[in-house]
Amino acid sequence: MNSFITSIHGTVILGKQIGRTIGFPTANLRLLSEIPKLDYGVYGVIVDWKGSKIPGIMNIGIRPTFHDHSEVSYEVHLLDFDEHIYHENINVEICFPVREERFFNDISELVKQIHSDVAYVREKLRFIDRSNQNNKHVVHV
Ligand SMILES: Cc1cc2nc3c(=O)[nH]c(=O)nc-3n(C[C@H](O)[C@H](O)[C@H](O)COP(=O)(O)O)c2cc1C
Repeated sequence: MNSFITSIHGTVILGKQIGRTIGFPTANLRLLSEIPKLDYGVYGVIVDWKGSKIPGIMNIGIRPTFHDHSEVSYEVHLLDFDEHIYHENINVEICFPVREERFFNDISELVKQIHSDVAYVREKLRFIDRSNQNNKHVVHV
């Protein structure tokens, strides 16, 4: 059964590309839907893109580690996915919270934390049937 907290919709825009340099490229969203009433933090998500369901992990917040308090960012790192989706519209089902966004003294500490966040999300989102003809990822939450 699929259930989620809320869903948001937006266009993928180019971020600052820091994500790529730390090994976690992210799709940054310009929201087309309303601002979700959610705390800043990390969430397990499922992205709808062209009929495919792609598991991912999202950070909502102001990225305190990078002193980037300019605006709230909505960024998703897609798991096992390597296609360019810039300028495309995606729907993000926000399924469950992982942790609060926080400041890290050291970027390597943030990277370590994200690895453990990803492991947690993989554990919670169990993927089956990743190779059927429609290339749909059937995800049980
Ligand atoms: C799963 C995940 C968790 C994150 N958690 C934090 C966090 O707790 N604190 C923080 O300052 N940034 C966090 N970030 C944001 C990274 O700092 C961000 O991906 C980086 O600034 C890259 O942004 P860019 O895509 O605009 O280059 C997280 C990112 C991801 C994907």
